[in-house]
Amino acid sequence: MTPQADVSPFLLACRRKPVPYTPVWYMRQAGRALPEYRALRTKKSMLDACSTPDLVTEITMQPVRRYGVDAAVLFSDIVVPLRAIGVGIDIKPGVGPVVDRPIRSAADLPRLRPLEAGDVPYVPQAVGNLVKELAGKPLIGFAGGPFTLASYLVDGGPSKNYELTKSLMYAEPAVWADLMDRLAEITIAFLRIQVQAGASAVQLFDSWAGSLSLDDYRANVLPYSRKVFAALADAGVPRIHFGVGTGELLGAMSEAGADVVGVDWRVPLDEAVRRVEPGKALQGNLDPAILLAPWHVVEQRALQVLERGRTAEGHVFNLGHGVLPQTDPDVLARLTELVHVASQR
Ligand code: CP3
Repeated sequence: MTPQADVSPFLLACRRKPVPYTPVWYMRQAGRALPEYRALRTKKSMLDACSTPDLVTEITMQPVRRYGVDAAVLFSDIVVPLRAIGVGIDIKPGVGPVVDRPIRSAADLPRLRPLEAGDVPYVPQAVGNLVKELAGKPLIGFAGGPFTLASYLVDGGPSKNYELTKSLMYAEPAVWADLMDRLAEITIAFLRIQVQAGASAVQLFDSWAGSLSLDDYRANVLPYSRKVFAALADAGVPRIHFGVGTGELLGAMSEAGADVVGVDWRVPLDEAVRRVEPGKALQGNLDPAILLAPWHVVEQRALQVLERGRTAEGHVFNLGHGVLPQTDPDVLARLTELVHVASQR
């Protein structure tokens, strides 16, 4: 074990070990809620920013300084590896990822070639800078889960019902299997690059998997997420698995092999404990919208999350999904302090 793993509350909680206090970080902690982020981002597009190591380093550090969180999360995006292998994809402000030529048939699949380290030189550069700057605080690397990546590639952009993605899944099982396999390989490569450069944990964001029924999730997504986690089993870092609206899928998701299961705000953590396999830590799960309410509401709800989180074998405090852009940064700073003080052992 590295010295960091012995002392970092975040890594201890992921490993279900005793912690001095409940560690906390926030999904999308870097980003539009921070004025210092908005000031830096005026000069470059989102994906250009993601491929500029100095900017990535600075933007990743901003929430660490402001909020006092127990882990940093690499400033990047789930579509970065797709663009790096030549998929025409951009992030349109206020919209999300948009694909020039969506993937709709077997003939489109060769465009999803394997990702190599040379495709994303800026990622290990930024991770290396960050590991130095963070001086022992863990850096979380991440990638998109196979269903979530497929949803952008097939539907061509953000979508409410994932019509084209799901119809490909239902109508063309062989194409679907090939697509998911390629995405799993790209994700494995992207996560390995981050770990090899020094990331201390990884999170798989299969954000939109909650749109599937349990049977469809098990048949069409779980095998590929399992492959991703199995490939990282020997990497020696905690693996976190997160999705939104996954209440019905938590048991199946926990079978995919991660060490930590992320829970959105819909399922209380004590109930999530009953739904996941034994041997898992949980991460979550304050509704990000609660941060827009008066402080006494935030405080009461955060304490409730901590209380329910005590029933888990390990608990990493987080929101149930990403920080909303209109969130007051001071509320997040105050919340971090509340979690640290209220959970002291
Ligand atoms: O958590 C962090 O601080 C790390 C940064 C991070 C970003 N994207 C930066 C970003 C992470 C972890 C992601 C993951 C991501 N990207 C997911 C999975 C997580 C989730 O929220 O469910 C998804 C689905 C995407 C795709 C994506 N990228 C969307 C839907 C959007 C929002 C579009 C919009 O403008 O509302 C993006 C853009 C994006 N990714 C921003 C940031 C900070 C906003 C870019 C900006 O400044 O305009």
